[in-house]
This record gives sequence, C-alpha cells and structure tokens, in this order.
Amino acid sequence: MDNQEVVFTLNEELVRVYADPAESLLTVLRDKLGLFGTKVGCGRGECGACTVLLDDQPVNSCLIPFGKVEGRRIETIENLSRGEEYHPIQKAFVEKGAVQCGFCSPGMIMSAHALLKTNPQPSLQEIKTAISGNLCRCTGYKQIEEAIASAAEKKSRR
Ligand code: FES
Ligand code: FES
Repeated sequence: MDNQEVVFTLNEELVRVYADPAESLLTVLRDKLGLFGTKVGCGRGECGACTVLLDDQPVNSCLIPFGKVEGRRIETIENLSRGEEYHPIQKAFVEKGAVQCGFCSPGMIMSAHALLKTNPQPSLQEIKTAISGNLCRCTGYKQIEEAIASAAEKKSRR
C-alpha cells in the first residue's frame, strides 16, 4: 500500500508519521521511529515481546496494522524511564532478578504497567493472567510475578 499520514499520540506527544498503513505498528515503531525497546519475537501474536499499550490496553504490536492507530494513544517502554530514572516496575524487575537475557522484559513490563494502571493491588492470579500472553524462556516466571507484586506494594505505600 502507499504511505499515508497517520496522526496519533505516542508516549504523550502528538505525532504525524508517513508510513504504509498495512505495515505493523511494531515495524513502524522500530524502523521509522527508532524505538527499539519494543522487541521483535515471533511476529505472529504468540510471544508478547512486542507488547505496547493501545489506549491503555496491552496489545501485540506485531498484529496491529499501522493505519489502525489513527487518533489513538500508544505507549511504549520508552515512556517508562525518564532520563536516568527507572520506572518503579523496572526497578522491581532488577531487584527481584526478573531480568535474565532481558528479551521478554519490555513486553512483560508493559503488560504489568497496563495491569497496575487499572488494578493497583492485583492478586497473584491477576498478575499471572496479565502476563499470560508474554513468554519467558529464562526465569520460570516466579521472579517476574514477584517483581510485579513488589512494584504494586511499593506503589500502594506511596
Ligand atoms: S513479536 Fe508480537 S507477539 Fe511475538
Ligand atoms: S528473561 Fe530471557 S526470555 Fe525472559
């Protein structure tokens, strides 16, 4: 398809991007916008490595045609850490040893971020459900669940 202008909010800023509307959001984020924090895994909706938030909902960006983001809000992992400062969820992942190879981490963290936006004190089962679309080959998930629970607890104490 021919490139077309798509206007949307990306990490809290209004942007206009010319790209093929049939291209995936993942490809546009990485190849056109240089946002490499969102990872390319399976490319077919099975691993969650490419998770971003679309209007606050976690989605697999490899499955979203870019043309569909017109007028919507996209948040990527780059929005979480500002300068040198890590987001509390990122800090918890480091503290709990939830990052090993790190390939799944951006997607996991975005799923956790979406969860804690709407459910600041999730149960273990709710945490498991929230990351059920994110695959991790390294950790066995326990440290990841602990990290999300810890981030929630710290947030509720603030
Ligand atoms: S790369 Fe999108 S779900 Fe695997
Ligand atoms: S830390 Fe390696 S895939 Fe999750």
